[in-house]
Amino acid sequence: MNKGRFIVFEGIDGSGKTTQARLLAEHLEKNGRKTFLTAEPTTLPTGRALREALSGKINRTECQMAVMFVDDRIAHNVHPTEGIAALLDAGIDVICDRYYYSTLAYQGQSTDYAWVKSMNLDCPEIRKPDLCIYIDLLPNQSLERISRGRDSVEIYENLDTLTKVREQFLSVISDLTPMDNIRIIDGYRTVEAVFADILNEIDCIG
Ligand code: TMP
Repeated sequence: MNKGRFIVFEGIDGSGKTTQARLLAEHLEKNGRKTFLTAEPTTLPTGRALREALSGKINRTECQMAVMFVDDRIAHNVHPTEGIAALLDAGIDVICDRYYYSTLAYQGQSTDYAWVKSMNLDCPEIRKPDLCIYIDLLPNQSLERISRGRDSVEIYENLDTLTKVREQFLSVISDLTPMDNIRIIDGYRTVEAVFADILNEIDCIG
């Protein structure tokens, strides 16, 4: 049986990646592919602990956050029924909203980049995606979208952090491009225009 494809969506908060990930999962299902839509932080206990920290209810240092994201990512890979590895082995395409590029961007800029990179990329239980789609948006455009759609904000959703994180995302992409298959897509357009570009990229991975 052919393995599933592992496709990751990345971007700063408000970039539209969650909408695009859902559209892609629906499109693939309609076209007869078995598809599983997932996200990080996960809904596993490791992910729930992260949500508490992200809401600001529980204080964690940025190094603790980096380790918690790695812990959640390992759980996400190895879970026996809904884990990324098990799903791909069963021939199911896995579409994931955020993955290690986020840790390299968010915690990589707030702690030590080499340490964060090594924890993720050298970990035998964290697999490399077949494709990463980075949806690019400027921080002010992102905040405009966040303030329109939400009652509460999480700890990284402010202009200063989003500015640093976007710069870091672009630098992570140039650092990893020789090893990882990453595409940058302009997110400040209609949902339909962004999605059309994404479909072109999916066609390229077969
Ligand atoms: P979300 O808004 O896509 O649900 O992500 C929640 C927040 O978690 C968002 O501000 C980005 C942050 N995050 C990290 O800081 N590092 C990570 O590794 C991941 C997966 C998310």
